[in-house]
Amino acid sequence: MGIDHVGIGVGDADKAIDFYGRHVGFDRVLFDYLGELPGLEEIAGRTPRARVAMLANGAATPIGPGRVKLVQVLDGQGPPAAPDGQAWGEVGVCEICLHVRGVATVHDALVAAGCESLMEPTSADVPPSGVTLDIAYVADPWGTKLELIEWTGLWRSLPGVPRAEGVNHVAFGVSDMARTRAFYGRLGFTELLFESVDFFDPMAPWYEPPWYDADHLPTQHMAMPLSPQGAAIEPVVLDPPGHDCRGSWGHLGPMDFGVRVANLDVAAGLLAADGVRLHGQPRSLDVGAGEWRYVYFEEPDGNYVQLVEARY
Ligand SMILES: [Fe+2]
Repeated sequence: MGIDHVGIGVGDADKAIDFYGRHVGFDRVLFDYLGELPGLEEIAGRTPRARVAMLANGAATPIGPGRVKLVQVLDGQGPPAAPDGQAWGEVGVCEICLHVRGVATVHDALVAAGCESLMEPTSADVPPSGVTLDIAYVADPWGTKLELIEWTGLWRSLPGVPRAEGVNHVAFGVSDMARTRAFYGRLGFTELLFESVDFFDPMAPWYEPPWYDADHLPTQHMAMPLSPQGAAIEPVVLDPPGHDCRGSWGHLGPMDFGVRVANLDVAAGLLAADGVRLHGQPRSLDVGAGEWRYVYFEEPDGNYVQLVEARY
């Protein structure tokens, strides 16, 4: 059922909830949990203790449906640092894309609210179908890359003021596009919106030394497989490959994502029967407003991803 949410590690959940609520439109706190997170032992090496706030955007649309999950790790040394030298496309989660109405206006409003502009608003189209889009990038006050897209060739936003609508897709680095397409195809991401192998020049300033040489930037092979519902995925392969930017689970910045299912037990059983390794049993957490049900599973490059059944 598509991408449910993208997880962002934060250093101060109160500040992040306020920022995402007031400036990015994620004004509905579905739950605000504080406690242990079972089921992460194989990924995090322990049962982390964290505060987790799941936020929905009140202006979400079918093309901007996804949520954000703010995670503040509370045990050990607190939230691990963001991976060093992450440009875009290294293995690991590298961006959250929000569908918006009015890219330029939303970009300028976020900059006024304290975001850094990473890419001025521009328009483009993507192969092979030439679907048009308006695009811009900002970094939230803690460095998370937020892409702002209006898919003008696909969808005219609902009436109203310029605004962020919700998560359109999550981008993450992988090492083998065919393997990743096959894997996520089994999870329902079957419809290809675009695929390209060109370097997107406006991203060039992100590839900084000593990690990259401006005269020899990697090629970017990116694709966007859609699921009939929920947000999309945007796997990226860099050539030559970048360094591993998965970081420790819970690190600052975008770091995991969830694929929504209607029935976790059934979905987990099907996945396991299909040969996918689950990181333990499905978990149910009492989050006050309801139940958060999830299980993490192994994807081909070790990106952190869970199945999630949202009973809240
Ligand atoms: Fe993207």
